[in-house]
Amino acid sequence: MKRVLLIEAMGSAEDLLDAGRDLGVRMVVATHPEIYDSYAPAVREKIPEVVFTDFSDPAKALDDLTEYARTEGVDAVVGCWEFLTPTAARLAARLGLPGNDPERADGCRNKRIMAGLFEEYGVPAPVTILAQDHGQAAARLAAGGLRYPLVVKPAEQAGSWGVSVIQGEDELADAFAAAQAWPYESPHGFPLDTTVLIQEYVDGVEYSVESVVFEGRVSPLTVVQKFTTDGVFRAETGQTVPAALGEDDTATLFETTVAAVRALGITNGVAHTELKLLPGGGAKIIEVGARLPGDRVPELIRLARGIDEARAFIQVALGIEPDLTPRAERAAAIRFFVPPRAGRFRSIDGVVRSPQVHRIAVYPEPDDEVRGPGDNDGRVGYVMLTAATPEKVNTAADAAIAKLTIEVE
Ligand SMILES: Nc1ncnc2c1ncn2[C@@H]1O[C@H](COP(=O)(O)OP(=O)(O)OP(=O)(O)O)[C@@H](O)[C@H]1O
Ligand SMILES: [Mg+2]
Repeated sequence: MKRVLLIEAMGSAEDLLDAGRDLGVRMVVATHPEIYDSYAPAVREKIPEVVFTDFSDPAKALDDLTEYARTEGVDAVVGCWEFLTPTAARLAARLGLPGNDPERADGCRNKRIMAGLFEEYGVPAPVTILAQDHGQAAARLAAGGLRYPLVVKPAEQAGSWGVSVIQGEDELADAFAAAQAWPYESPHGFPLDTTVLIQEYVDGVEYSVESVVFEGRVSPLTVVQKFTTDGVFRAETGQTVPAALGEDDTATLFETTVAAVRALGITNGVAHTELKLLPGGGAKIIEVGARLPGDRVPELIRLARGIDEARAFIQVALGIEPDLTPRAERAAAIRFFVPPRAGRFRSIDGVVRSPQVHRIAVYPEPDDEVRGPGDNDGRVGYVMLTAATPEKVNTAADAAIAKLTIEVE
């Protein structure tokens, strides 16, 4: 049986564990003992084997896992947790297995390096200024001719931690402090690049494109439309696959994605690309991750297109060309349930069932403490739907949650 090393079962790990089981390969998860204990029981049950290492020292973890792979035999390396995708690329390269370019792999994670590669390869992306401290930022901004609003963000975080949109120089110091507030990765605890990026604010509607790459050939699978709350915190409220877009806009997003994925050296694997369609035409890349999408998007793609991206990822890592022919032409959507405030969870009522509703999930039990809105950890459940077209699934999704009430004490 082939053995596939999964670099940390966080992110869309369940999709990969299911795909590995379906492919008849043995999935081995590299993690820390205390992180293994913190996995949801549903994830732990799907893990056939673990290998413990210490990712807080990435260089040592790389040596340990190389040694492990050489002694125990590993046929493929799959990166799951975005922060560790450079480790996955380096490990695959050392073992002579298919993976991404190890020289450029940090650019799939570190936005400072990513911005440099986009510039070098002529990929459309926001104008970016780098600074190590607030004084340097103010001086470089004055010289750079960028106009407000501006985006200030850390080189190496995720989940929108420390990302601010600022309207004037008086907001720069606070935004800078927020961007440098978390200099360590969580939960493994390795140090992060504390460089701060100050970017032109790109106007337009944001989408993501999910792609599979086999031997350097990039295949964009679909455009995903993201729904967010407005206001200070941009929590994601839902996703729809495919986005309700015409062929020309889809082609623009696909072309821009292919250029970005190539620039970052993603040669064997998957890519989650976030980008904005510009009001005047064209698109600009916000960021790319060498990983599967989150938010249950792999399942939406299976429902809407009949393509299993997680399965394709494992096949690519094994050196097998995946079959990416769509087996369905439908649309699928998810809308998350977010409580109005933090407190003790009571109940969820008013979700309207219809033939389009595929599944309803509620996470907490009555009396469980729940977080308020503001970030994605505040979610208490979701409704997943399918319909013939994106327009129809979006209408069905609106109807399903129009009368939703979430009671919190
Ligand atoms: N230059 C920009 N112009 C306009 N909007 C931006 C820009 N940079 C970031 N954003 C917005 O902020 C969001 C978060 O930024 P980014 O993706 O760079 O950070 P992140 O921490 O990786 O976030 P996440 O994990 O939530 O995607 C983006 O999805 C986008 O909506
Ligand atoms: Mg992002």
